[in-house]
Amino acid sequence: MLHDPNRVYVFDTTLRDGEQVPGCQLTTPEKIEIAKELELLGVDIIEAGFPVSSPGDFNSVVEISKAVKEPTVCALTRANKGDIDAAIESLKYAKRPRIHTGIGSSDMHIKHKFNSTREEILERAVEAVKYAKRAVEDIEFYAEDAGRADVEYLAKMVEAVIAAGATVVNIPDTNGYCLPDQYGAKIKFLKENVKNIDKAIISVHCHNDLGLATANSIAGLQNGARQIEGTINGIGERAGNTSIEEVVMILKTHQVLGLHTQIDSKRFYELSQMIRTQMRMPVQPNKAIVGANAFAHSSGIHQDGFLKMRENYEIIRPEDVGFPSASIVLTARSGRHALKFHLERLGINLSKEELAEAYNNFLTLADAKLDINDNDLLSLVAHKLVKN
Ligand code: KIV
Ligand code: ZN
Repeated sequence: MLHDPNRVYVFDTTLRDGEQVPGCQLTTPEKIEIAKELELLGVDIIEAGFPVSSPGDFNSVVEISKAVKEPTVCALTRANKGDIDAAIESLKYAKRPRIHTGIGSSDMHIKHKFNSTREEILERAVEAVKYAKRAVEDIEFYAEDAGRADVEYLAKMVEAVIAAGATVVNIPDTNGYCLPDQYGAKIKFLKENVKNIDKAIISVHCHNDLGLATANSIAGLQNGARQIEGTINGIGERAGNTSIEEVVMILKTHQVLGLHTQIDSKRFYELSQMIRTQMRMPVQPNKAIVGANAFAHSSGIHQDGFLKMRENYEIIRPEDVGFPSASIVLTARSGRHALKFHLERLGINLSKEELAEAYNNFLTLADAKLDINDNDLLSLVAHKLVKN
């Protein structure tokens, strides 16, 4: 079968990078439940854990390998034999196993994390890939802190690990440092200067320290990467990882990019809620795509435009991400149209004069109460209901 050059593979690391977050730890049965939902969502790869880190994490990779059929199951390692052996063992039931091994690539990490040299690190990278490749065909290599790495050295490393057998090369912006054009240029440089790059898929793995994880991931895809790594709700180390739902909906909304995934986006909201609850990590209300306010219209100007034609203020339909429905929130910033809309929803039709009077009373109430519900609306027009 011919490889589709516009297909973007989705690599979910909610159960690894996401689960590393303090307070987000899960039991093996909880991880299996989430892995099954990720399979239904249509992710291509599930990073199930870091097997050497604990017996519990090892066991989770074993059980997830048994529980899912379609996605590749991936296990993380550092570039050493002990980690790789544990990963190989944990993946023995996986239908499509992948080992994700790697090492630091920036001078900062080489000197101050590994107390080593560029040459020595390059050798360790190649050895790790060769060692893993003896047992597993699909090897992803991560060049940690690639966002801050010298691009010529990074290219040398990428070329060497592909020659050693890496099938995917992950270029992480581990510290969320890059600007989108810098990160995109880095991917472009690798695409144009690594002579065996066509033998591997370039993957983007961005962190959100400056709020740029999604923008950087898109810049990477625009410059030739074809795998995106991220988590549901954008959870992950420090400020988090790229949020998968954001990248997928950007690709759907901007078809001009010509890229697509096989994600069933209608499952996003429910899965987001599940992750929020199981991982005890609230979703900020204004979070794109899945936040409580993502489809809530609250100012009078917006509500008026939305009620005339929803596309005036809606670039994504809530149903496309499984969100219950758009809402018109009533606050002291709401206009007459919004009040009329809600009263009619409750079966109350007022004349122009009656609506004007109800609106004045509504504003007084909304200034005092902030949150207006259906009971408040009914009490606002109670005298009218009794009269009728
Ligand atoms: O952020 C990072 O660099 C990572 C690697 C382990 C892939 O999570
Ligand atoms: Zn990471």
